[in-house]
Amino acid sequence: MAINLKGRSFLKLLDFTQREIYYLLDLSKQLKEAKYAGTEQKPLTGKSVALLFQKDSTRTRCAFDVGAFELGMHPVYLGPSGSQMGKKESIEDTAKVLGRMFDGIQFRGFKQQDVELLAKYSGVPVWNGLTDQWHPTQMLADIMTIQEAKDIRNMDGIKLVYFGDSRFNMANSYMVVCAKLGMHFVGCAPKELWPDEELLINCQEIAKENGGSITMTTDYKTAAIDADAIATDVWVSMGEDSSVWGNRIKELTPYQVNMEKMRQGKKEVIFLHCLPSFHDDQTEVAKSVIKDFGGNGELEVTNEVFNSSYSKVFEEAENRLHTIKAVMLATIRG
Ligand code: CP
Ligand code: NVA
Repeated sequence: MAINLKGRSFLKLLDFTQREIYYLLDLSKQLKEAKYAGTEQKPLTGKSVALLFQKDSTRTRCAFDVGAFELGMHPVYLGPSGSQMGKKESIEDTAKVLGRMFDGIQFRGFKQQDVELLAKYSGVPVWNGLTDQWHPTQMLADIMTIQEAKDIRNMDGIKLVYFGDSRFNMANSYMVVCAKLGMHFVGCAPKELWPDEELLINCQEIAKENGGSITMTTDYKTAAIDADAIATDVWVSMGEDSSVWGNRIKELTPYQVNMEKMRQGKKEVIFLHCLPSFHDDQTEVAKSVIKDFGGNGELEVTNEVFNSSYSKVFEEAENRLHTIKAVMLATIRG
């Protein structure tokens, strides 16, 4: 049966089949090639999308905005302080209003429940641009980056090793996408930062059906062995209190991605990070961490790895655009 995602919301990858994920990845590749060749069309001309952001963003915001423009649409950005949503108007009412004006809605915020409510009441496709629980558009970009780096389409058997906080949006999403695509996911973190048990078991079952595996370990000395891709994320995510920094640094320092870990991977191993990343002292947050806890600002990854030939983080960032365009196109036009 042909795949048609018209009218579907993109809230989490658990809702999508392996075939549908590959469909979106193939479409992303076509859109990227068309952009590079200068043969892009504007297939969604005359349509408008709302971009709701309760949290900060560079990549996701720009990818939705530029992506909407490149598809022919008009994007409207609503920031944390720019709308009535949540303050004077419920999510349900906001959804009903926006659904009458827009052809699609992007939401980045805290609660997964909010993006689910927008989808339930707006009547138009809603795209999750990150919640505390999931970051599904990021996963398409990450998989696309691995496909390009290895010149493959089929992700079966590819081993992705993730170091760091494993109970938030990035690790949750990696577990699901790896399970769906029959990959081998190894999450490496102290037990206090392991994923929700129910999600872990669910992902293990999905992975098994697809010939993959989902494993958690605390063994940071050997987890990276034979990895095809090594990924990490910030140790303190948006919305978390800055008072957790001290503990996180203590807990996660052994899990920092460094050259020793990268060298344990396969010869062609790549490094991924959704960004922004703490790898130097060039940011306000890094400076404040250095002031309070010492160090040189290298947290989840060393500057050496971040800037090495292993690192595909800027390819990954660019792929946010192509994959987000695919999600908008597939769910609005079908
Ligand atoms: N990776 C990512 O979502 O980046 P932004 O927070 O800049 O959107
Ligand atoms: N876990 C991070 C991801 C940022 C793209 C956060 O939620 O802040």
